[in-house]
Amino acid sequence: MISCDSKQLRREGLRTELMTARNQVSIETPVTAIDWRLGNLEGTNIRRSRKLLKDLAEVYPNHASSGLAPDTEVYSVQWWAPAREGQEGGLLWGVTHLQPGRVGDEFFMTHGHYHAVETRAEYYTAVSGKGILLRMERGGRTWAEEMLPGTLLYIDGRHAHRVVNTGDEPLVFWACWPSDAGYDYATIARDGFGLQVLQRSGETVLVPAAKEQNVTSID
Ligand code: PA5
Ligand code: MN
Repeated sequence: MISCDSKQLRREGLRTELMTARNQVSIETPVTAIDWRLGNLEGTNIRRSRKLLKDLAEVYPNHASSGLAPDTEVYSVQWWAPAREGQEGGLLWGVTHLQPGRVGDEFFMTHGHYHAVETRAEYYTAVSGKGILLRMERGGRTWAEEMLPGTLLYIDGRHAHRVVNTGDEPLVFWACWPSDAGYDYATIARDGFGLQVLQRSGETVLVPAAKEQNVTSID
C-alpha cells in the first residue's frame, strides 16, 4: 500500500476531492498478480493442485504398461479464489499447465468435467503450446476445437470439457469460471468422452471412443 497524508499532498500540489477522504490518501496494491505468458499466479487465496499419471487411472486404464513412471506429472492447476467455492455470484480465475506426452498413442489430457450447475459457463484462453478442447453434450455428442496461443473459447455450462495437449511443449491456458459452477467428474469417469485424440503414424487424429474407425486427420 502506498500512502501519505493530505498535508504532504497539498505541498506537492496533488489535491483532489477524492484524495482528501479521511485525511488519508492511499493507492492499494492489488494482492494478486499474474504472469500472463508464463502462467503463474502470486498473492493470497491462491490454490494449487497437481495431477500425476497415477491420479488419471480411469482416463488411462493401461498406464501401468506404458513405461511411464506413475509419478509423472500430467498437469497442474493454480487458481485464485477471492470468492468461496460454492458461493453464488463470485468468479474464480486459474491457469492449467498441461504437459506434453502420451500414454501409448493417446495424448496427455485433463480429467474433463461437466459443471455441476449447468447454467454456469466458463472462458478458456491459451497462451502457449498447442492442443484441442474436447466438448461433449449430455447426450454424448462430442466435438473438438483447436487451442493455440490467443484462442479464446466460451464453454457453455452444459458442455463437458477436456483439454488435450497435442504439441511437444506445455500447453498453458487460463480459465475464468463462476465460484458456484461445481464439478461433475463422476459422469466423465464412468462414460468418458465420445472422441479420443491419438497420434497415429506421426499425425494427430480424432477417433470415436466406442469403435476405432472413421479416423479424421486434424493436422
Ligand atoms: O475450471 C476449469 O475447467 C479448469 O480450471 C480445469 O479444472 C483444469 O483445466 C483441470 O481440468 P479438470 O478439472 O478437468 O481436471
Ligand atoms: Mn470447468
